[in-house]
This record gives sequence, structure tokens and C-alpha cells, in this order.
Amino acid sequence: MGPYAAAYERSLGDPARFWAEAARDIRWRTPPERVLDDGAAPFYRWFTGGELNTCENALDRHVEQGRGDQLALIYDSPVTGTQRGFTYRELRDETARFAGVLRGLGVERGDRVVLYLPMIPQAVVAMLACARIGAVHSVVFGGFAPRELAVRINDARPKVVVSASCGIEGSRVIEYKPLLDEALELATHKVGACVIAQRPEALATLVSGRDVDWDQAMAEARPADCVPVAATDPLYILYTSGTTGRPKGVVRDNGGHAVALRWSMPNVYGVSAGEVFWAASDVGWVVGHSYAVYAPLLAGCTTVLYEGKPVGTPDAGAFWRVAAEHRVNVMFTAPTAIRAVKKEDPDGLLIKSHDLSALRTLFLAGERLDPGTYDWAANVLDRPVIDHWWQTETGWPIAANLRGLEPMAVKAGSPSVAVPGYDVRVLLPDGSVAPPGAEGDIAIRLPLPPGTLLTLWNDDERYVESYLSRYPGHYLTGDGGSIDEDGYIWVMGRTDDVINVAGHRLSTGSMEEVLCAHPSVAEAAVVGVRDELKGQVPRGFVVLKSGTDDVDEPRLRGELVRAVREQIGPVAAFKEVAVVPALPKTRSGKILRGTMRGIADGDDVAVPSTIEDATVLDRLRPILRRDLR
Ligand code: COA
Ligand code: AMP
Repeated sequence: MGPYAAAYERSLGDPARFWAEAARDIRWRTPPERVLDDGAAPFYRWFTGGELNTCENALDRHVEQGRGDQLALIYDSPVTGTQRGFTYRELRDETARFAGVLRGLGVERGDRVVLYLPMIPQAVVAMLACARIGAVHSVVFGGFAPRELAVRINDARPKVVVSASCGIEGSRVIEYKPLLDEALELATHKVGACVIAQRPEALATLVSGRDVDWDQAMAEARPADCVPVAATDPLYILYTSGTTGRPKGVVRDNGGHAVALRWSMPNVYGVSAGEVFWAASDVGWVVGHSYAVYAPLLAGCTTVLYEGKPVGTPDAGAFWRVAAEHRVNVMFTAPTAIRAVKKEDPDGLLIKSHDLSALRTLFLAGERLDPGTYDWAANVLDRPVIDHWWQTETGWPIAANLRGLEPMAVKAGSPSVAVPGYDVRVLLPDGSVAPPGAEGDIAIRLPLPPGTLLTLWNDDERYVESYLSRYPGHYLTGDGGSIDEDGYIWVMGRTDDVINVAGHRLSTGSMEEVLCAHPSVAEAAVVGVRDELKGQVPRGFVVLKSGTDDVDEPRLRGELVRAVREQIGPVAAFKEVAVVPALPKTRSGKILRGTMRGIADGDDVAVPSTIEDATVLDRLRPILRRDLR
């Protein structure tokens, strides 16, 4: 039996022992009493009774063990022409000081802090500072509009919000502060204070009595020490799109998270302390949390924080420039970013002018890696390109080619095999396990391994209903697919109304809510249609209210596109909408979104037998197939 098979078997046969061994790589203030606590199943807990501090494990510990002068963080920002390195000692000191700022603003253990920040070092410092004092951070991606930020503020009820005067998108300066002010206005929960990092590209006006300048607060603060917290205490809440407009607040613990991420670095990514790891993802997404911040630091690596795009900052060689300049050993991005590079530099000519001799592996995740993109990347890079599959909920990979544990053959289009700890199964509608190769719902038998979600913030019921109720004893991933004879998992796409646009997870339900709020719209459907660059893009179809026949359609379409941008954010990339006479539905009134999507993608889809009126679909076909922009 090879090392992978042996580890996988041990992880499922005796999970407590397997993860107790992994937990030795984490510094505990109080050792755990129970490794796997099933006392409140299906709410499993890991390492109960244990106490630790995640920030101490990510920073202080390395300084004490002789890594104080090693770079912990490299900030590389082509959009501002800045580069700055922070050693472990410097990052610890900055973090301790900012933890003192938060303390001074009344933030205590268990309090929430919302971060609405671009890719600047303050984002990393603020996250770790929360961890240091046992506060719970919730990072909101900068591409979301004020209303979305307000929804998250109302749900997380933070004492403090940390933000910046602006973000920079390519050559555009996006002022964050007016967006934050609007969100705070919209939110019913009242925030005590805001800390604002002023950037020279756009200075923000501070509200006296509420807003505090980052630099000034830092200059006046006293550093704060690490506070031991329970392994089961929340480290962060990260909101992600569900099937409705209300985002799900995924709750991550401290203990299980530290153990799982630390384990994943050598075993999945094949990377060691002292090496350079770069995840080119925004800190607003789970990849940014896990692999731009926590995992590389827990493992004593140098992490790169890149404020730029794969193309246009300044060209499609940007990724290779960063990888070469910082001697990146292992890199991680989304397939969409590689597609963007491929489009501009199809022959990979820009790679040749950079010394990528340090780069061993490129990992990709966030959406399905289509074989064309895989082949291109593997060919131009001439080194392993590794697809792996995971979700905000799991926080680390469910399926991967475990480069450290036992590299295995690649099958293009599959993220390879189940990672130790994940008992992955494909289930059929009656709950039985699908035979090899047959498609069904991909589920994971409980308990999930450490590091995965504890629950949804303040909503245990929704956690059970969304994930655990469809197949009792299993977590429903929301992805459909199959497992082949060799144990390779094939993830074919979401089975719910979640779509994936340029590696960003979005809810079509929330876009439909915005469309339906327009006074002329009676009902709406949004489907994710195939897009060469972004994987999927949303496309809206609206039915008008009776009595609105004289509506100016181009103007209405413009209003609807603007409404989605203003209320959800530019990240939704909602640019296409059509007015249609009716939406195809089942006899029970459910809109046939899957059928619409299939037709829009040009697939050969069968008309479901449950359809109420097939002529509605026939009339819609030409519109579904047309480019609506
Ligand atoms: N703050 C404000 N606005 C933002 C933003 C942020 N942090 N991030 C994105 N936006 C805006 C963009 O400016 C764009 O606005 P526009 O409609 O005015 O042009 C819109 O949101 C859509 O952004 P994006 O999806 O990034 O599209 P793009 O055309 O700018 O870039 C890619 C396309 C493929 C280069 C880019 O999506 C990319 O790098 N994706 C990788 C995603 C990723 O790493 N995901 C993490 C999972 S691993
Ligand atoms: P997010 O929660 O934003 O990380 O999005 C998770 C979703 O992205 C998953 O449920 C999948 O639908 C999709 N996804 C992520 N990685 C992959 C992958 N390697 N292959 C296929 N789909 C993926």
C-alpha cells in the first residue's frame, strides 16, 4: 500500500489518532482532552478542551524558533509600484500593535470585526490581530456593493470595521470609504468605530468620533499579547453565496483549522518551512484566508500578497514576473486567471523572459479546470499543474493530487482523489452509493475532518437544513459528479443555484431578487451560462408586469444591469438581460433554470416531462442562444 492509501485508510479508520498526530505540529497552551468530539453530533467538534492561539502559531512561535529574520510576507503591488517585505518579527510586531488598537477600541475575545480591505498588508495584519486577541474576523470582498456589506454587518454585528480609503483595480482607483459609509448607513446594526488605512491614491474623509486613522492609532497603541482561546472557538466567519439572497456565514474554529492547514502544506502542496508560497487570491475569498494568510504562516513559509491582476498590470507576464522575482516555489491561482493569461499570450512567450527555476508546482482551484486550460498551462510551464477541489465551507482541499504525500498520475478534468479525512461518496437520489463512473450528488460522510465549517453563524438550523438533511449522516457538497474505478473524483458543477463567475461564487437567487424589485418586473430567472474566460457569466430573463407593454426595453435593461451592479457589486459581472414573454416552468411552478442553462450553453437538452407548457420553452430557445450584450 502506498503512502497515500495508507494515510487515507488511517484517517477514516481512526480519525482521532490520525489528527492527534497532526496536532503535534501545533503549539497548544492546553492540550486537547478529546480529539474528535461527537457528543453533539451532527455538530462534531475537534480538539475539545484544547487551548491555543492561531496568531501565536502563525507568527510568535516562528520568531521564538529562529525564523524572526525570515520574510513572512512579501507585498507586491504593480498597481501602486510598491514592494515591501515583512520579516516574521516585523509582522508579529505590527500585528501585536494592531491587536492593541482593536483592544483600545473595546474589542474583546469573541467580538466580531468586519474587514473591508483591498490586498494590502493591513488586511493580513488585521486578520492576525483579531486572532491574537480571540476576536472573530469577517472579511468582506471589496467587489461587493454597500448593500451586501450591510447585510454582512447586520448578521455578524461587529464592534469595529477595518477598511481603507481605496482599492485599485488595474488602473482605476475605487474609493472604498464612500461605499463603507453607505453600508453603515444602510445597516441596522450600529458599529462602534472604523479604522481606516489611508492610501495616497485617494484620501478618505474621516467621520469624527467614529473613524480612526490606521497610522495614528498604531502610533498610539500598546502591543497586545496572544490570548489563549478554546480550540472550538470561532476564528472567523466568511460569508459565501447560497441559493437565496441571504449569504451563509461559514464559521471556522481555531484548533481544527490550524491543524488541518498545517498538515496540508507538506502533504498536499509539498512545501516546507522557509519556502515561498503564493496564492494569488483576494483575501476576501476562502483561498485568500487559508492559503494567502493562515496556512503558509502556520507552516513557516513566506507568503506573497499580490495586489494586481493576471493581465493588464502591466501584461500577461505579471504572474511569471512575481513568481520569478520572489523565487516562488509553489503557486496557486484559479483557472480563469490562467485563461486570461492564455488569451493574451497564447504561446506563453512572456514566460520565457522570467527565471522560473524555483517554481515546482502550480495548483489551480475555485472552478472546474477544463482540459484545454490544463493542457496549455502544463505545456507552457513544463512542470506539474495540479487541479484540486474545495469550497468555502471546507476551507481546505477535499480532493487533490497530494504532491507531498504521494504524487500521482494526472487525469485532466479531475481534481484527483479524496484527501485524507474526507470520506467522499457519490450518492443517488435514493441515498445509495453510485457505482463507479455514475453521476450523482457528491457528498461527504460525517464527520468532516478538522478545519471544515462548524456551522453557519447564528443559524444552526440552516446549517443542518442546507448541508446535512438531504442525505442523513452526510454533508452535501452542492456539486454533482462521479468517482471512477481508480478513485478519481470528477466534479461536473453545482446542482443548486450557485454559479461560479471568474472563480467567484455567486448566487443567482440574489440577482433574481434585485431584478424582481424593479417596478416593471413580474418575475425573473438568472442562469449561469458558459463563458470562455470567466467559466460562467450570469444571464437574466425577465417577464414584465401586465400593463407595462409600452416600456422602453433598452432603457429597462440598462436599469436592471445597473441595479445588480449597485446592489450586489461589480463582481457579479451581470451584463446580459432579456425581456421574455414567459419563463418555462414545471407543473408545480418551479422555473426550469437547468434546462434554460443547457439550451443557452448550446447543449442537447431533453425537455423535462414535468414541463407545464413546452411552447414557452420553444419560444425562448432563440433568445436563450443569443448573445444579449
Ligand atoms: N474591489 C472593487 N471592485 C472589484 C474588485 C475589488 N476587490 N474585484 C473585482 N472588482 C470589479 C472589477 O473591477 C470588475 O469591474 P468592471 O465590471 O467595472 O470591469 C468586476 O468587479 C468584475 O471583476 P473580475 O471578475 O475580476 O473581472 P475582470 O474582467 O476585472 O478580470 C480575471 C478577469 C479573470 C482576470 C479576474 O477575474 C481574475 O483574476 N480572477 C481570478 C479569481 C480568483 O483568484 N478567485 C479566487 C478563487 S481561487
Ligand atoms: P468557493 O466556495 O467560492 O470556493 O466555491 C466552491 C465551488 O467552486 C465548489 O462547490 C465547486 O462548484 C467549484 N470548484 C472549486 N474548485 C473546483 C475544482 N477544482 N473543480 C471543479 N469545481 C470546483
